[in-house]
Amino acid sequence: MKNGFLIVISVFLFISCSEKPKAEQNLTVKNVMDDVITRLYKQVSPEKYNTIDDAFMFQFLSDEEKSILATKYQYFKVNVPVRVSLMRDVKQATIPFWLKEAGFKNTGKKVKNEVFEYEVWQKDFEAGWVNLGIPGFDMDRTIFFITVGAKNKEDKLKITDRYPAKHSLGVMKKGAFTYHDWDGLKIIEFPKELEGQVLFTTVRGRAREAHVEGAFRKTNFPSSEKPDQILLTWSKNPVNSVDIQWRTNPSVKDGIVKYWLKGKKDTLFADAEISVMEDRMLYNDRYVNRFAAHLKNLNDDSIYAYMVGSKNSNSWSDIQIFKTEKKDQKKFSFIWFGDTHKAKGWGEMLQMANKQHPEVTFYSIAGDMVSTGLYRSDWDEFFGVTKDVFSYKPLMAVLGNHDRQDGLGTWMYYQIFSLPKNGPKKVHEESTYAFEYGNALFLMIDSTHPMEDQTEWIEERLKNTKATWKFVMFHFPPYNFEEPYFEYQKTWVPIFDKYHVDMVMSGHIHYYMRSKPMRNGKVVKSYNDGTVYVISIGTKSRDREIGEEPYAEKRYADGQFYQLMSIDGNKLTFTAFNKEGKPVDEFLIHK
Ligand SMILES: [Fe+2]
Ligand SMILES: [Fe+2]
Repeated sequence: MKNGFLIVISVFLFISCSEKPKAEQNLTVKNVMDDVITRLYKQVSPEKYNTIDDAFMFQFLSDEEKSILATKYQYFKVNVPVRVSLMRDVKQATIPFWLKEAGFKNTGKKVKNEVFEYEVWQKDFEAGWVNLGIPGFDMDRTIFFITVGAKNKEDKLKITDRYPAKHSLGVMKKGAFTYHDWDGLKIIEFPKELEGQVLFTTVRGRAREAHVEGAFRKTNFPSSEKPDQILLTWSKNPVNSVDIQWRTNPSVKDGIVKYWLKGKKDTLFADAEISVMEDRMLYNDRYVNRFAAHLKNLNDDSIYAYMVGSKNSNSWSDIQIFKTEKKDQKKFSFIWFGDTHKAKGWGEMLQMANKQHPEVTFYSIAGDMVSTGLYRSDWDEFFGVTKDVFSYKPLMAVLGNHDRQDGLGTWMYYQIFSLPKNGPKKVHEESTYAFEYGNALFLMIDSTHPMEDQTEWIEERLKNTKATWKFVMFHFPPYNFEEPYFEYQKTWVPIFDKYHVDMVMSGHIHYYMRSKPMRNGKVVKSYNDGTVYVISIGTKSRDREIGEEPYAEKRYADGQFYQLMSIDGNKLTFTAFNKEGKPVDEFLIHK
């Protein structure tokens, strides 16, 4: 049967290959690199991966592959003759292999932004196509960018058929930015001749498109047939639903949840959606299948037992349990963490907290769950250190800057977490969302997304809730000693004040701070009149002094912490514990 299937596939491939000339098929850098890496995994043994350099790549690549890498990284059409200036980081060790060959010359001129210096390479092109190649097989995140200007000043330059089209065209001038994932980085110096030219913006993540030198990674937690990384979240009402997610290796082609009320015999089933997750540079586990099932119509205040597995392979998880919320519940508790960065030490603290507080109903993390958001090995570590905690206690988290990657997005996070799709229209679904548990409203905000798209939604949500408690969580803390976020203080804090948000929970700065009650940027007498801003850190904090913060009630420069929030009607007890499980900060709000 298997062989027959392979023959059918081969015939199909042969037919589809013979329909198109070979040169037209793999015209993108991505396709070439996908093929190259696949071939490399077949022909080269893992111990050699980290010795791969430019010389190796030249003998490994076909001429056709080289030509695509030299021309298809970036291209566009111009209507008049132009001069293209390519700004290359002076610290990049290797000059892109195609640059000189294509006729670009180093002019000796310099462009600077606030952090980096670039040398200016130039080439003149006639009207027609301009084709540029990859930045290199290394990964210099200070990736090259270009400006284009008409050769004759009277000509009106038009640029069309741009690839990639998604990054905007700007104007070369002082204060211009080049990288969308670091738009605060501004040009400060450049040769006068570039002034007013068309500036092609980019993202630093493009440095990874052909990255092979030192790029290969191994996961310590490879997938298998047996489901693992089982994760509970709530995309809908915690009273009668739950989302269950897990992964397997690619041999498992379908997913199903078997569940039953604990102690009862009737078994229910829910099918799972399946998606493939690829991390090309993860040589011992490049592909995994991810599953997500949404269980609905559950009884409230009930304990269910469940297993996840597959109809077609007989591989099932161990039995686990989850608990639905009691309707109109007024008493519950949860634990939240600041940045966790998939750290082993944080995992140990989580295990301890989980033992010490079996009563908590869910966990939360204020962003930077991992360190490099598009390395699946990071997420594998994350689940590795959390063990099975999130398979019986849901995790409701928000994104931090580290969960994204150099402007390439956050797609692994979206694929792993099934979260409410009730955020602002202009924000990616599941990035910013709201949920209610008991008598509390939680606004979970993606602060890596521009504020202006979210402000109205925040106000709407706060205005329309009947919840007793209003909590807001986002990664970047409005008040902190190091890098105060004045834009949040100006735009969001007045809304928090107007609707009396009880607590704003954040991370990012890697220390612990609990503010006094604050309103309108000033300390007020009681938490009934003001909001408490808390910053915490789940992994090991950075080792350094903390500066002046007149609004702070309690601070710790170093340590690792978790916060237990216990709600009982109109009473909230907040306790921060250190890694040893010792309470280090406590206060009470009584409404
Ligand atoms: Fe962080
Ligand atoms: Fe951060």
